[in-house]
Amino acid sequence: MDFRDFKERIGIFTCLLLCIVLFSSFYFGQLRSIALLKNLPVIHEEPSKPTINLDHTLDFTIRNDVQTRTYWGAPIIWELMFDPKLYDKKHQEGNTSVALTVFAVGRYLDAYLNTFLTSAEKHFMIGLPVTYYVFTESPEKVPNIELAPQRDLKVVKVQKYSRWQDISMMRMKTISETIEMELEGKFSYVFCFDVDQEFKNRFGSEALGESVALLHADFYNVPKDRFTYDKNPKSKAYMEDGDHYYHAALFGGSLQNVKALADFCHVNIMEDKLNDVEALWHDESHLNKFFWLNKPTQLLSPEYCWDNNVPDKKHILVVRLTWAPKQYDKLRTR
Ligand SMILES: *[C@@H]1O[C@H](CO)[C@@H](O)[C@H](O)[C@H]1NC(C)=O
Repeated sequence: MDFRDFKERIGIFTCLLLCIVLFSSFYFGQLRSIALLKNLPVIHEEPSKPTINLDHTLDFTIRNDVQTRTYWGAPIIWELMFDPKLYDKKHQEGNTSVALTVFAVGRYLDAYLNTFLTSAEKHFMIGLPVTYYVFTESPEKVPNIELAPQRDLKVVKVQKYSRWQDISMMRMKTISETIEMELEGKFSYVFCFDVDQEFKNRFGSEALGESVALLHADFYNVPKDRFTYDKNPKSKAYMEDGDHYYHAALFGGSLQNVKALADFCHVNIMEDKLNDVEALWHDESHLNKFFWLNKPTQLLSPEYCWDNNVPDKKHILVVRLTWAPKQYDKLRTR
């Protein structure tokens, strides 16, 4: 065997080795995701910090036009039920701090981020320390917002995905990793928001809870059989029955509960991908499945995320957050 031959063989061998390493890291990555599924964190474990529960101060009868409690006892927060001053005082005394995550990817950044952040500065958890975590693939385009004292903004660069379905699915993985690597130990609660929304009125500490889900404005007042749960038995999001239809535009809770939700959704989305299925409403379908299996401790009424296209507004005393009008001129070319 001459030297050239030897060099060629070494080349081929290196190539093969590289392929094996690449393939196995991908393969075991997938396996790890599936292993997570079998070993999901237990929800409602002992919280790491003392938690503030003011449910006993709520007036469940003042709103006789709407449901104010679920059958498992969780409050559904509507205007007039809570004393905002009391909530803020208790949370300030208890040193509550809140992290807010928001994804501003592609043209969503140009179209919505500025309005989202400036309106949050006026209405979101005023009086409490808040840190915004903005996830984007173009950090240089994040607007320079003037922040009130005790409020902070961090920009985290993420990879660009072209299909919005993939963007919304990878959100869950990013949220879970961020909680584990960045938020753990620093915040009492984390809330995750869609960016195409605008705060209009107080969105305060009454919305905080161990595991918080939002009633979807389009479905809070319609019969169950109209809920758009995933109905494909091949998907992990498949549901025959449920309690409510929750909106994925925002969710929140203690760090460990939100991480459990994000892990559940991510792992089930990955398993669906391996089986070549996609849930009807993507991460929202998986979120609904999670909250069916792990009942939220607190529900937010659609006052906390109103859809102005719903004609009947009779139950909505205060619009606290609303879907932003679609900026088709800025989004069309996606
Ligand atoms: C809140 O923080 C202050 C100042 O650091 C501290 O004195 C107080 O004990 C804390 N309260 C609670 C309930 O942890």
